[in-house]
Parts: sequence; C-alpha cells; structure tokens
Amino acid sequence: MSDLTTLRLYGNSESDIQQAALMLKDGKIVAFPTETVYGLGASVFNPEALKHVFEAKGRPADNPLIAHVSSIEEIALLAEDIPEDAKLLARAFFPGPLTIVLHAKKEIPREATGGLDTIAIRMPNHPIALQLLKLSGPLCAPSANISGRPSPTNAYHVLEDLDGKIDAVLDGGQCTVGIESTVIKLSPSPIILRPGMISAEQIEAVLKKNVEVVQKGETHIQSPGMKYRHYSPKAHLHLCSTHEEFEGLIRKYPQAMKLSLHVSTQFGDIFPLKEHTYYDILRSADIKGVSDIIILFPIEERVLKSALFNRIEKALGQQ
Ligand code: TXA
Ligand code: MG
Repeated sequence: MSDLTTLRLYGNSESDIQQAALMLKDGKIVAFPTETVYGLGASVFNPEALKHVFEAKGRPADNPLIAHVSSIEEIALLAEDIPEDAKLLARAFFPGPLTIVLHAKKEIPREATGGLDTIAIRMPNHPIALQLLKLSGPLCAPSANISGRPSPTNAYHVLEDLDGKIDAVLDGGQCTVGIESTVIKLSPSPIILRPGMISAEQIEAVLKKNVEVVQKGETHIQSPGMKYRHYSPKAHLHLCSTHEEFEGLIRKYPQAMKLSLHVSTQFGDIFPLKEHTYYDILRSADIKGVSDIIILFPIEERVLKSALFNRIEKALGQQ
C-alpha cells in the first residue's frame, strides 16, 4: 500500500463526491473532510479496506475506529441495545463533534472495533461528509494522518502524511473545529474518554446527570487508542504556566516557536494558541525545521480549555 497514485478530488464538485463514494463502495480508502479533522474513510463492512486503513496510518491493530453515519437512523445498522441517554445525546448533538460508544452489532467486523464488543459512532457536521456518507453508507474513519502525528485539518496535511498510501483525498478546505470529537461511553455511567469541543457540562445539561471525565493514567483502560503518544510535532515541546517561566524559556531557547493562550505583546512573534489552528501550527513548525516550541498555558485555563490542553499533554507523552 505504498505506491498508489492518490487521486485528488474536490468537494465542491458533485461528480467528485459521487466518484469518492463509488471508490469507497468498491473497497478503496479515501480521506474526506469533517468539521473536526480529516478522516481516512473505509466501508464499515469491508474488513480488507479497514486493514488498509491501519496499514496506511501505521496504526496499532488494537486501536478501534470511529464509524461515521449520515443520519441518526443509521446508528441502528451498527449498534444494538441503544440506551435512552444515547438517543438524548444524538438528538442534542448530532450532527456535531461528539462520538458515542455503543454496543456493536454482531456483524461489525473486528477490524472496526479492535476486538471490543462496542463501536464508536458519530455523525459529522459537514455538508461534504454528510453527502458522501449518504452515497457510500457508513464509513469507519480515523484521523487521516500517520499515527502519532498531528491530525490533519486540510487536504494538504493529509497528502503530507499519506500521498501514495491512500486511493484518494476529497478536498473540502479547512476544518472549522480543528480538534477531534469528544468521545463518550454511557454504561455503566457516562464518562468522557477523550475531551473535545462538546464539554462535560453541555452533556450533563442534556442527560441531567453527572458526567465523569477519564483521569490521567487510566485512559488506556477505557479507550484503547488513548494509551499511545499522540498529536506530536517533531519539535520538542516546552509547556509553562506563567509569563515569568515563558520569558525564561525564551531566553534558554531563543530560536523557539512561541505559542500562547493569551497573546502578550511583551515578547513579539507569538502565535495564538487556538483549537482550530493548533495542529496547523505544529505542522508548519515541522516544515520550517523548528526544534523547540514553547507553550504558555495558564493553570486556570487548563480546565476551561480541557480539550486543547489534553492534546498538548498527549503530545508531551504525559498521559
Ligand atoms: O473528530 C473525530 O473523531 C475524527 C474525525 C475524522 O471524525 N476521528 C478521530 O478518529 O479522531 P481516531 O481514530 O483518530 O480516534 C478514535 C478514538 C481513539 O482514541 C479510540 O481509542 C476511540 O476513539 N475509540 C474508538 N472506538 C472505541 C470504543 N469502542 N471504545 C472506546 N474508545 C473507542
Ligand atoms: Mg487520530
């Protein structure tokens, strides 16, 4: 799977979307845009195509995939014993950046579930993704990057990692959310396995019950994929919480790229740290050969911006 010609298709062309859907139905693997990040799609019911997804990404076989659907009704094709809480969440947040872990139907191939009896499902809020899914049927789609690299937020990022390894990329421009969906498991009680832009508070407001967030160190028990180091640029990351520390690190690494949640004018050339541009900045740093990145993320913001902070912790290999 390393000497394919990766076809460039464009999401503003109806016939290109149709071609992408035909390729997927034919067992090919095709990257497509969602509102969070680009996904590398393969038909949920085609084990061979799913294997190719793992090969192209260099993804460990025990890390299950997220299945994408074009409607709430389609969930019933993939999952059974769907709890009332899942229906409430789907009604409130689908389409949107939320993934719900449900009991998988028997006919779901083990390549999709990583051998678990559950399947993660989401309905993306992106017109091109929804149109594609309507034509292709449900697709498993992990982020369309080499495992461990920052997730792709445009088609160029996808090609950086996967040109020649996948059959096609459907270009839909820039992703607007920019970090991966919130992943939640509902039984025995609701727990967020991966924080995202839909917060525990928003989910609690719908379910009217307490929602836990998985703690550092126990993510691997709940969600196989979370034990791996993730979302990393080649540069060395330095994380600090105060301006004093930031200043100290700038003196120590004068060539470093600087990222700050609250951009201070004090130091100049500092990039704003925001969800929708974070991965793009990490990839730009790699292209420019940046060796060090200094991130100022004040302690009090780490709870408020927990999804972004989670990605930084993962890149640091701290979780
Ligand atoms: O926003 C997103 O979710 C993107 C776009 C493309 O939809 N997809 C994405 O997929 O981030 P991926 O494969 O990079 O991340 C899937 C995460 C992993 O952490 C995996 O362990 C978890 O979801 N997961 C998948 N199936 C699971 C299951 N049955 N139980 C628990 N965790 C599961
Ligand atoms: Mg990923």
